[in-house]
Amino acid sequence: MNELDTLVDNARAAFAKASAPADLENAKAQFLGKSGRITELMKGMAQLSVEEKKSRGAAINVAKQAIEAALNERRQQLADEELNVQLRAEALDVTLPGRRRVGGGLHPVARAQERIEAIFSSMGFDVADGPEIETDWYSFTSLNNPPNHPARSMQDTFYVDMKDEDGLLLNLRPHTSPMQVRYAQAHAKKYAGQESMPDIRVIAPGRTYRVDSDATHSPMFHQVEGLWIGENVSFKDLKVMYLDFIRAFFETDALKLRFRPSYFPFTEPSAEIDIMFEHGPLAGRWLEVSGSGQVHPQVVRNMGLDPERYIGFAFGSGIDRLAMLRYGVNDLRLFFDGDLRFLSQFQ
Ligand code: PHE
Repeated sequence: MNELDTLVDNARAAFAKASAPADLENAKAQFLGKSGRITELMKGMAQLSVEEKKSRGAAINVAKQAIEAALNERRQQLADEELNVQLRAEALDVTLPGRRRVGGGLHPVARAQERIEAIFSSMGFDVADGPEIETDWYSFTSLNNPPNHPARSMQDTFYVDMKDEDGLLLNLRPHTSPMQVRYAQAHAKKYAGQESMPDIRVIAPGRTYRVDSDATHSPMFHQVEGLWIGENVSFKDLKVMYLDFIRAFFETDALKLRFRPSYFPFTEPSAEIDIMFEHGPLAGRWLEVSGSGQVHPQVVRNMGLDPERYIGFAFGSGIDRLAMLRYGVNDLRLFFDGDLRFLSQFQ
């Protein structure tokens, strides 16, 4: 093998050893660079005769071209390898199941609340919202439940370490009933001095709090308060209105309603409202869904209205309870655990 063939072989071997483009360029310099082997050989021809230069030059050129070809081949190889590595790293398995973007949705209790609001709106009721941190007066005293009244212990209240204007601790409202007084006061003020006042017809849904926790009680729960006050409103109106509501809510007329005597300081007489489904898994059992009653004259007075002229009724229903019955949920706590396997079933 002559010297030039050996040189080409050496170049090929050096290029093959280069495992990255930068190594390859270094190897190239050794052979094809300004002071590389080929240049040296060219310089070495200076002393040769014209004839010798011709044949020697041609042979060196052949070797140079062979080295350039080997270089290009190796360049291409390295580029291919690099591309393959990249392709493998970015490989897409199009046979994998796709990742869906899951849509959010309303919580079942929020759904029930929206439903309640829609039904009562359609019956001409306003929908009002009020504070969850309440004063002692609105949560209790204004509702004919003064300090030291035994009925206060019916509600295991959360207190906030902050006092109101009367020097009494604020509370997390144990029911939505304070909204009866707040709303009626505002209404009475609006029509003060006028000959007559339109009826008060309002519901006030929202969060309520009690020191209570088991399968059917949660320290935070939801109620909807209802209030209808006018000059000639009676218990009969409550019965008709509530029956209409509950049948619309459960989308069935095969449902009975019962008023069971009860006691609340702010209503007289007072009643629990029970319902019974005629069909379905809950059929035949009375289920308590609401407290209710005719608004106590003292409460009407606290609203800023004359109890000799105005009369009405109120109710307070558990929204979570209604949602449980509607969706067939047997543990209230499921609503508040935040488990998507449970919640997503309602979407
Ligand atoms: N506030 C009562 C409760 O939480 C329910 C109720 C509301 C009763 C309105 C009568 C009238 O138990």
